Amino acid sequence: MVFDVDLIQRVYQGYRDKIHKIQIALGKPLTLTEKILYAHLAEGEVLKPYRRGVDYVNFAPDRVAMQDATAQMALLQLLNSGRDKVAVPSTVHCDHLILAYKNAHDDLIAAEKSNQEVYSFLKDVSNKYGIGFWKPGAGIIHQVVLENYAFPGGMMIGTDSHTPNAGGLSMIAIGVGGADAVDVMAGLPWELKMPQIIGVKLTGKLSGWASAKDVILKLAGILTVKGGTNSIIEYFGDGAAALSATGKATICNMGAEVGATTSIFPFDQKSVDYLKMTDRSEIADLGQSLEDCFRADDAVLADPASYYDRVIEIDLSSLEPYVNGPFTPDLAYPVSEFAKAVAEHGYPEKMEAGLIGSCTNSSYEDLSRAASIIENANSLDLKVKSQLIINPGSEQVKETAERDGLIGDFEQAGAVIMANACGPCIGQWRREGADKAPKNSIVTSFNRNFAKRNDGNPNTYAFVCSPEMVAAFSIAGSLNFNPLKDTLTNEKGEQVKLAEPIGDELPKKGFTLKSAGYIAPVKDGSQIKVTVAPDSERLQLLAPFAPWNGKDIINQPLLIKVTGKCTTDHISMAGVWLRYRGHLDNIANNMLIGAVNAFNHKTNSVIDPETGDYMAVPALARKYKAEGLGSIVVAEENYGEGSSREHAAMEPRFLNVKAIIVKSFARIHETNLKKQGMLALTFVNKADYDKVQEEDKISILGLTSFAPGKNLTVQLTHKDGSTESFEVSHTYNQTQIEWFRAGSALNKLKSEYKA
Ligand code: F3S
Repeated sequence: MVFDVDLIQRVYQGYRDKIHKIQIALGKPLTLTEKILYAHLAEGEVLKPYRRGVDYVNFAPDRVAMQDATAQMALLQLLNSGRDKVAVPSTVHCDHLILAYKNAHDDLIAAEKSNQEVYSFLKDVSNKYGIGFWKPGAGIIHQVVLENYAFPGGMMIGTDSHTPNAGGLSMIAIGVGGADAVDVMAGLPWELKMPQIIGVKLTGKLSGWASAKDVILKLAGILTVKGGTNSIIEYFGDGAAALSATGKATICNMGAEVGATTSIFPFDQKSVDYLKMTDRSEIADLGQSLEDCFRADDAVLADPASYYDRVIEIDLSSLEPYVNGPFTPDLAYPVSEFAKAVAEHGYPEKMEAGLIGSCTNSSYEDLSRAASIIENANSLDLKVKSQLIINPGSEQVKETAERDGLIGDFEQAGAVIMANACGPCIGQWRREGADKAPKNSIVTSFNRNFAKRNDGNPNTYAFVCSPEMVAAFSIAGSLNFNPLKDTLTNEKGEQVKLAEPIGDELPKKGFTLKSAGYIAPVKDGSQIKVTVAPDSERLQLLAPFAPWNGKDIINQPLLIKVTGKCTTDHISMAGVWLRYRGHLDNIANNMLIGAVNAFNHKTNSVIDPETGDYMAVPALARKYKAEGLGSIVVAEENYGEGSSREHAAMEPRFLNVKAIIVKSFARIHETNLKKQGMLALTFVNKADYDKVQEEDKISILGLTSFAPGKNLTVQLTHKDGSTESFEVSHTYNQTQIEWFRAGSALNKLKSEYKA
């Protein structure tokens, strides 16, 4: 047992009384989101109604979870925090750095060898500060958290954007950058703008090919990648209660794709079943005794439109399987319309690879339903036409699936079972020939499908759907296949039709697990020494960023004006760059190399006004830095959508970029920029984006009176000497302005310890 019983008892102590007081203070019935958020107000916060979408509020999360790629920078920052032990239970999970190449066994050995230095660093810092450590191969962070740490009514932050996965067990779980994690591990309150609440009423019951994944794929089409920004999505209704706990987690996980702060489901019998099956009967019993605290009040459910900021209704009984993509997760096609879209848009019809796994869809239920399709194909004499790769979510899922014959079904059909890790979901896929592959299609059960994300190849068209649909497409080898109505020709030349997927939400014989891969920290880690080799290319101790110089920013050159989508993958690519996540200087060489320059429509090609030559973005930024200059980045909508990686904020800060001016920001990234002491500014009039010219010098005026709610002025000096000015807005509150002045939130934190 790895969960902390003391923590659960502490959180649940007086929980119902707290909820009652919140009901009185707010003077109205409560949504589930409000119950958990207000129950976690940080010490000193007044219990009063906070305005959604307006007021910043301090919270006290119960837990922190970190994956190995983001934990490196988080723990490097923790080393600089002045603390000697984490203030709340925290864990590190080694899942991102394992390259999927041959198979689970060989890839794990290779990862342990190639990442040895990083794993040792993470293990030592974890041991020193009292952090639980999950070894490589133990599983994907969100699956492991769901199996071990998620609990109803709790609040957690995690250094990964799919942390909301734990909402499947009625926990408010929010993806953050490493600096936020350091704050919470250091015992400081954690700040969030009180989110709006989108209510999603689920009615009916899933049947046939439709799965939990299709709920969120459909919702992504409705809300788009920005529709959930600054909002928590709260599900309710009879349909919600009919979904398995892992199915609910899938839906919450992918709420990140609509920009939601997090997503949450009410506690119900499925939660009880899952908690009991994962060896947490005590939590199940405590949860049942507080059941009314872990769902919205009856008055809210009777009149949702009066209590949620927006209500969307989805009927599960009529839900079709969806296929979303390519290149964006909100391009949603019901499978009945997909073949038409393939033809209309010229998507490559032949399917090259099917990939099942990722934190979104790697539960026992997911493997079980996908395996039923493969097993059915085996019995119908159908061969799997495309490559098929499976990444189980955890060692527990894998061992259980092995015992129950599911892994055998996949292997019999020629599938390769990779490690219990992220693998191709984060570009950790050594795909033969990917570097020179022409236009090709892959179908995955993952959550993201941005260009180059899976195999680094911009010609790969990635579509996301449920695991059972991935299995069906893999058998057909074609995107034109609709398993609900089409037949396939088997090895004997007969026309056969795949049966609908069947599967078990939970294993009939319970889970089995020989070795979880968990290492508990020692009681007293004060004597543990953490060393980083000065010549390491993977790790680098952090030097504090310089404080603000007290002056306006005057005539700094434009570094890049980005056009179109600019996700954190465009700003700080994953894939091969994952190896430098603990070395700021080295990883800064990938800064914005995926972003498209608005002036020449090329990536990683920006003009050096001094020579007139085009050069790589990081190289030009380094040149400016060496000359003692800063630079400015301009971009369009939802800048920084996608992951929570703070490298996307630290790299520009390190390379002396002074401000990012955009039409709009994704929430996590905007906060990350603020934490690193950067200026994150928004065009008041979006059309002002068009005024920015390629060789502009940019001034940002008004910083000496920088204040919450007060706009700043941007002045452009064009190449011909003419000038133009416009206003930019910001969302900095007083604390965040202090971070800017101190040079970073961490600088401010340390100065407070000294004081
Ligand atoms: Fe890993 Fe992909 Fe999830 S990178 S944590 S499996 S989104």
